[in-house]
Amino acid sequence: MDRKELIKKYLEFFKEKSHKEIPGASLVPENDPTVLFTTAGMHPLVPFLSGIKHPLGKKLVNVQRCIRTGDIDEVGDSFHHTFFEMLGNWSLGSYWKEEAIKMTFEFHTKILKIPLERYAVSIFAGNKNVQRDEESVKIWKELGISKERIAFLDDNWWGPAGRTGPCGPDTEMFYWKPNGKKAPKKYNPKDENWVEIGNDVLMEYIKNENGSYAPAKQKNIDFGGGVERTVAILNGLEDNYLADMWAPIIKKIEEISKKSYKENEKAMRIIADHVKAAAFIISDGVTPSNMERGYVLRRLIRRAIRYGRNLGIEKFTSKVAEPVFKIYSDYKLNKEKIKEELEKEERKFGETLESGVKRFEKLTKENKIITGKEAFFLYQSYGFPIELTKEFGEEKGIEVDEKEYEKELKKHQELSKTASAGKFKSGLLDHSEKTEKLHTATHLLNEALRQVLNDKSIVQRGSNITPERLRFDFNFERKLTELEKKKIEEWVNDKIGKNLPVKREEMNLKEAIKSGAQSEFGAKYPEKVSVYNVYDEKSKKYVSKEICTGPHVKRTGELGKFKIIKEESSSAGVRRIKAVLE
Ligand code: ALA
Repeated sequence: MDRKELIKKYLEFFKEKSHKEIPGASLVPENDPTVLFTTAGMHPLVPFLSGIKHPLGKKLVNVQRCIRTGDIDEVGDSFHHTFFEMLGNWSLGSYWKEEAIKMTFEFHTKILKIPLERYAVSIFAGNKNVQRDEESVKIWKELGISKERIAFLDDNWWGPAGRTGPCGPDTEMFYWKPNGKKAPKKYNPKDENWVEIGNDVLMEYIKNENGSYAPAKQKNIDFGGGVERTVAILNGLEDNYLADMWAPIIKKIEEISKKSYKENEKAMRIIADHVKAAAFIISDGVTPSNMERGYVLRRLIRRAIRYGRNLGIEKFTSKVAEPVFKIYSDYKLNKEKIKEELEKEERKFGETLESGVKRFEKLTKENKIITGKEAFFLYQSYGFPIELTKEFGEEKGIEVDEKEYEKELKKHQELSKTASAGKFKSGLLDHSEKTEKLHTATHLLNEALRQVLNDKSIVQRGSNITPERLRFDFNFERKLTELEKKKIEEWVNDKIGKNLPVKREEMNLKEAIKSGAQSEFGAKYPEKVSVYNVYDEKSKKYVSKEICTGPHVKRTGELGKFKIIKEESSSAGVRRIKAVLE
């Protein structure tokens, strides 16, 4: 049974049991700012698990792409991945334990035909807050699971996905993997031959901000099962990377490197996993950067590139992505964008990797340890993520002072914050009438970019105003077209033509951010800030809202005609516009 067939069978089974299929969500979570990526099928469903009515009802099923980076260092063995797919079915306040466990068991034993002989389960052992889950024990026994094949564990608890939200005890199912070796009568949770193939989370609790657990108003079931490992065990494979969602990628790496998988398992697994994960992340709209999601993506790509060097290959990531498109043809991945970003990142890192390695070798010739300062230097000048430096070190038996590196990084971040706070205060060189007008025009331009380019993620990355012109930096990946520039001018001039009032308000910083006021990327603001807004009385809408010390004109009609005189690249991923008022 391959990936597509498993998914089809699973969806069909639960749809027959009156579940509605919902589409998988993006890897970039929409409703949860506390995590970077979607890590489980339940993640996009948190609002519905918390009691909001789902339009498709109370029984749902799907397959969800997931990223878990917690295990990134483990990738390289036969079963850890950063990208995987999860089969998921849910009861939103509908069926409870008995029905859930029975359905899961039926799917495993009747549809996947897993013999009882190879089946074991674990159950929540209880703690001082929540009792041992006797109900599940009874259900499993009724289904024919022997006492010896049931383990009670303290850590059979799942969630919440982020810092807060629905969670609860769970009951997990295991499969005895080794071929030709009979499963022991007793299930031993420490024996890695038992592979987890499913998890029914019995969501009875909500974790609050203060860390306490409260009984949930709505009891939910959240089942999750990993596609990769299930396909692997059904095909009797001891190595997930031999299953159909990996094998063609490994084969491609063998072809490119002219080396065999057998002798290069670790490097090839890391490359396959990281390139696949990167492809999906890019397809969901993330690009490599030094921040948050973008930085996770950058690390994945760079780690793959570095292992490519071990195999003696260069410029390979976009080629390795080719089989990913085929395997996951059901996803309609954004191939062009994926290839473009992979190639761009590989070019960028390629430029500094060699000289970074030289520098690293020089350092390690002289020393037995890489100091935090040196590790930071490797990061800043050669783009070496810390774990890369650590891995290089490990290979040579050289330690890296990670703690001191973290300190260096913090020191640097503080410095750049202070610099931008200073810049914020003195954003205006003088306070003449001309600069005041250009300043208000800057606010309009800031909003015009988001509107015309239809990209809410655009923020100010820097601004400089002289009496002659404004200069505005913002995050955007490419050159603007003539038409886009024209539309931006038109948008601003339209607001000028409407002669809208510009008003100032004082607010707490939190309140300001919550109200949707724009702020400069990375800038440090005081507790209390002033917010300047341009308000359109006719449509009763804010045209612009920005945290800013001012000053500004009283009405937009004072500005004159807005004109862009230049649009260029400022740094990687940042564009710069110069504009005047005529
Ligand atoms: N949300 C549960 C898990 O990830 C099903 O295991």
